[in-house]
Amino acid sequence: AKLWILIPAAGIGQRMQADRPKQYLPLLGRTVLEQTLARLHTTFVEAPILLALHPQDTYWPQLAPQYADLTASGQLQAVIGGKARCDSVMCLLQALQGRAAAQDWVLVHDVARPCVRQQDLMGLYAFINDPQQGAFTSGALLGAPVRDTMKRTHTQDAKVMTTVAREQLWHAYTPQVFRYQPLYTSMQAAFAAGMQVTDEASAMEAAGHPVYLYAGAHDNLKITQAEDLALAAYILRAQQE
Ligand code: C5P
Repeated sequence: AKLWILIPAAGIGQRMQADRPKQYLPLLGRTVLEQTLARLHTTFVEAPILLALHPQDTYWPQLAPQYADLTASGQLQAVIGGKARCDSVMCLLQALQGRAAAQDWVLVHDVARPCVRQQDLMGLYAFINDPQQGAFTSGALLGAPVRDTMKRTHTQDAKVMTTVAREQLWHAYTPQVFRYQPLYTSMQAAFAAGMQVTDEASAMEAAGHPVYLYAGAHDNLKITQAEDLALAAYILRAQQE
């Protein structure tokens, strides 16, 4: 099956409190978006890449020239995203209509995760294509077991209600890779049911598809707040050593 790469990058990065969306902030001499794109493209050289961008994005046109060849060949395409992350993913899935086959793999990766390791990308892809898994797997996501003790609270003053057994808890990262048709149909069903779809896996789970976690490195940081940029730079440098 063919692999498509979808990158939701239409967020405005409100929590960063920066002068521009976080995907356009500098990270080791390039923007976050360029770092993330480079990781995916060097790992999956042949895969077409679709980017979801904010309708008022003024930064992408400045970066686009360096991707002129990829764009001209049709391997890279930008589409307009939506209000929330899941809306942007829907826009991307809609853009694949009539192009992707039902069984094609769709890999969704947040632009805000530039530190995802090439080894984990390849491992996840090998996992879903493993004939032994393939018989029953409609897809998988990168994750990592929780290391900290977890507490549940539901009060304003953060009074502890209970301790949650961490043995069963994993962080859900991206990439998340699923077959095109089940993913698209599950997302539509989740939207229709008014579900809060914070990741693709949750829509697949709700539709009853088997979803598997593939253990990746803990340094697959999602850049959310200002201090995360320095941490991401540190991680990228450490990975190169
Ligand atoms: O803001 P947050 O880190 O949760 O966003 C996760 C990802 O979803 C980011 O890659 C962001 O650019 C993307 N996003 C999007 N469209 C939105 C909101 C977020 O593509 N409307």
